[in-house]
Amino acid sequence: MGGPATVFRAASIDVLREVVAFCRSKEIDHYILGKGSNVLFSDRGYAGVILSMADLAGYRVSGTRIIAEAGAPLGTLIAVAHAHGSHGLDFLAGIPGTLGGAVTLNAGITEAEIGEIIENVGVIDIAGDVTHIGRDRCEFAYRSSSFLTSRIPIVDACLRLDGSEYDLRRLLALRRATQPLAFPSAGCTFKNPPGFSAGELIDRAGLKGFRVGMAKVSDKHANFILNLGGATSAEIRKLIDIVRQKVYKSFRIPLELEIEVVDG
Ligand code: EPU
Repeated sequence: MGGPATVFRAASIDVLREVVAFCRSKEIDHYILGKGSNVLFSDRGYAGVILSMADLAGYRVSGTRIIAEAGAPLGTLIAVAHAHGSHGLDFLAGIPGTLGGAVTLNAGITEAEIGEIIENVGVIDIAGDVTHIGRDRCEFAYRSSSFLTSRIPIVDACLRLDGSEYDLRRLLALRRATQPLAFPSAGCTFKNPPGFSAGELIDRAGLKGFRVGMAKVSDKHANFILNLGGATSAEIRKLIDIVRQKVYKSFRIPLELEIEVVDG
């Protein structure tokens, strides 16, 4: 869902650097997009330039590290890790995103987050050069990082493959059992408030199945808002507002968005 936008697919990191420099110098709004799995665009579309990372998906393995460009799909990286005998990325299984998006949001599951296995992240700094930032300066926290607030473009990251291992089949089976995967959604809509589960709160507020137009709170997992087909972004936003208000009224707990809403 969304609307019209100008999309630029950078063919190399150098081209991306040039375009970012151009946008910065001309004060043109620009938004770096991976697979868009956690992003809700406006029905008006986007007035600036969307910089797609789809063609920046290269990677190489060096010892027990994988160094990959930001547009590399997580599924590809999991397969590369397997080919090198590691199940260290399996906790990312089923997340339909790119490395850059996952790093920005510190994607993960209850047991693990990508920030834990990051060694460094390459970004386009203010001078327009690629600089590598060590993990300790990335401010990884629950579904957050310094990149989420700074919006500095990520170009690559180095991941360790020699940490804890995970069971891909078990995790995918758990996802299938607990999450609604048959309809499009942006995954979990809200972050879990400290000590609570957003899904459980929305469920206990009686909102499972609640609809605005073609947007619906999942009957299976209440933190997922589904597009039943042709839902508008405005319908999703209306449903988000209703869920927040009802949960606050019922439990006095504010829900914070996990998905990113990008205005036109
Ligand atoms: N629950 C309900 N009703 C619901 C949904 C959940 O009562 O409608 C209860 C469950 O029974 C369980 C508790 O809430 O007791 C927690 O639910 P679940 O185990 O499904 O985990 P979650 O906290 O809702 C988190 C992440 C997911 C990740 C899973 C698995 C967040 C917001 N969500 O879900 O991440 O896949 O754990 O590790 O942190 C995402 O970030 O987009 C995402 C889907």
